[in-house]
Amino acid sequence: MKKLSARRRHPLAAVVVLLLALAATGGLYAAFAPAGKAQADETAQSLAIDEGKKLYSVGCASCHGSGGQGTSDGPSLVGVGSAAVDFQVGTGRMPAQQPGAQIPKKKVIYNQAEIDQLAAYVSSLGAGPITPTTSQVDPSGADVAKGGDLFRTNCAQCHNFTGEGGALTKGKYAPSLEGVSPKHIYEAMQTGPQSMPSFPDTTMPEQEKKDIIAYIKTVNGNESETPGGLSLGGLGPVSEGLFGWIFGLGGLVAIAVWVAAHTAKAKKS
Ligand code: HEC
Ligand code: HEC
Repeated sequence: MKKLSARRRHPLAAVVVLLLALAATGGLYAAFAPAGKAQADETAQSLAIDEGKKLYSVGCASCHGSGGQGTSDGPSLVGVGSAAVDFQVGTGRMPAQQPGAQIPKKKVIYNQAEIDQLAAYVSSLGAGPITPTTSQVDPSGADVAKGGDLFRTNCAQCHNFTGEGGALTKGKYAPSLEGVSPKHIYEAMQTGPQSMPSFPDTTMPEQEKKDIIAYIKTVNGNESETPGGLSLGGLGPVSEGLFGWIFGLGGLVAIAVWVAAHTAKAKKS
């Protein structure tokens, strides 16, 4: 004990403590830095594909084929993309049950994690439209008036002027858009389910899709998930937060060491 406290008073002790603290935080930062994260993402991705393949074999392969090549009961899923899976399974259309003019929405039977795994597997079969991120589909700040114009030109002939839907030919119908989540609206435009045409980002850029979502949400009376002005913008990348946290802490440690060193000196004199 004595030895240790004697060493603690050593003039270099403060420097050593500071260096140790910085080394530890630096190591921590390196461990969480983007390089490590990319690798972790990759393993997570291949795990998701494996899990998705299992779910697919049980729930989807009978109609879509063991490798997604399609059968007489269902189309090929090669190249439909994760967005199509997220839309079809996330709205309960898939897995389909009975044949008919149009496959209806049903109770969703997979949870979002399973849907993500199915989507990961299907998109590993061939590239296609990618599931949009939360910020891509967030309509806050979008131009509702422009969205209304776009909706009237591109969607109203089937979905009616405020999106309440309507009958089409041969027993098909365009459903009401009320209560459909922004993500599923975006994905419907990306992938064009059944008799709906698709509106890929090349002909209808992301911003126009957002304007349309904002319009649909406005005419249906629930503006967006974050009513009012500021949405407080989320927290930004974790690694940046960690960086700030560590340098803030490093600074505090440095100050503490400095104060300790000075009080020790004051006591001696
Ligand atoms: C009973 C047969 C059946 C089962 C089971 C089934 N599907 Fe389908 N699926 C279909 C048919 C038929 C269509 C085509 C609907 C249309 O476009 O008219 C389809 C369409 C799709 C599409 C849209 C393809 C495109 O071109 O955009 C996706 C994605 C899809 N299915 C995924 C799945 C997934 C994932 C499962 C398992 C959870 C599943 N399906 C289970 C019959 C089935
Ligand atoms: C030619 C007619 C047609 C046009 C044009 C059209 N849709 Fe559709 N839409 C449909 C049909 C039919 C369905 C149902 C497909 C299904 O059940 O798989 C649908 C489904 C949807 C869904 C899914 C709704 C739900 O309940 O899950 C959304 C969202 C949607 N459309 C949005 C749009 C938007 C936005 C536009 C314009 C950019 C548009 N549609 C243009 C016919 C159309």
